[in-house]
Amino acid sequence: MNTDYINIVNSNLEKYLKIEYPNIIYESMNYSILGGGKRVRPCLLLGSYNAFGGNKIEEAVPFACAIEMIHTYSLIHDDLPGMDDDDYRRGKLSNHKVFGEGMAILAGDAFLNYAYEIMLNFSIEKFEKKYFLAMQKIAEAAGLKGMIKGQVLDIISENKQIDEKTLLSIDKNKTAKILQASMLAGGILANASKEDLIKIEEAGYYLGISFQIKDDLLDIQSTTEVLGKPINSDIKNNKSTYISIYGEKKAENDLKKYTDKTIEILNELKLMNEFLQDFILKLLERIN
Ligand code: IPE
Ligand code: IPE
Ligand code: MG
Ligand code: MG
Ligand code: MG
Repeated sequence: MNTDYINIVNSNLEKYLKIEYPNIIYESMNYSILGGGKRVRPCLLLGSYNAFGGNKIEEAVPFACAIEMIHTYSLIHDDLPGMDDDDYRRGKLSNHKVFGEGMAILAGDAFLNYAYEIMLNFSIEKFEKKYFLAMQKIAEAAGLKGMIKGQVLDIISENKQIDEKTLLSIDKNKTAKILQASMLAGGILANASKEDLIKIEEAGYYLGISFQIKDDLLDIQSTTEVLGKPINSDIKNNKSTYISIYGEKKAENDLKKYTDKTIEILNELKLMNEFLQDFILKLLERIN
């Protein structure tokens, strides 16, 4: 199931990104989005869509691809010297190390714009409110009051002692909101009820926090080869992370706690959620 989703997303991304003039920008975008990445957000979107009974996957695919584009843009920019200054991503040199900073910035910009173009074109063509609503939720999560806010807090919290509330706000905004929006958009597209949408958003929150805790843990526990990005990046940048605030042991415990909470809420939903459950449990155990 999971590999089916990944294949569908990958083949559609390829279609969206056929090379044309000026080739270099398409090459830079293809370099970062194809042949790497776990596709967590599109899988969550399609998994949630399916769990809520959605059975026209073609109506969810544009949104799944768009969310992966937004995520990939955030990674390209996150690696730039002005941000985390990391030289490896998805098992290869970072975009700016291959294409230069200018082209890396533009590839990120292009992904962000293209994502909305894809969602908007589809929504206008179908002209059903749910498509615009899904897009709005994604825009909110990625924007100034979501991922951008989280990335801003992440940067201004470098070299600083921050409190627990601020740490939670960083993780909620920079990571959880996009995961929440992925699951929420899946539900919206499958015509889930208002009550169920509230619940899936809540599950996405706990999943998102646990996902970032795991990311922070892998930064100190993995190897660059396995992780596909440099380890000890957070230490190098003196970041405020779950590890720097709470230590490794509590991070491990809370990872489990937040994941359990995610599963508990999913169970309350009484969905056909085998794929989602399994996928989420695998994220807890992931090695990259
Ligand atoms: C990394 O995300 C950035 C975070 C929000 C933690 P992923 O771990 O999903 O990265 P890819 O998509 O697999 O490369
Ligand atoms: C970044 O968090 C989250 C984004 C929105 C890109 P990190 O900076 O910890 O992500 P990695 O570890 O570089 O993937
Ligand atoms: Mg970062
Ligand atoms: Mg980073
Ligand atoms: Mg990290």
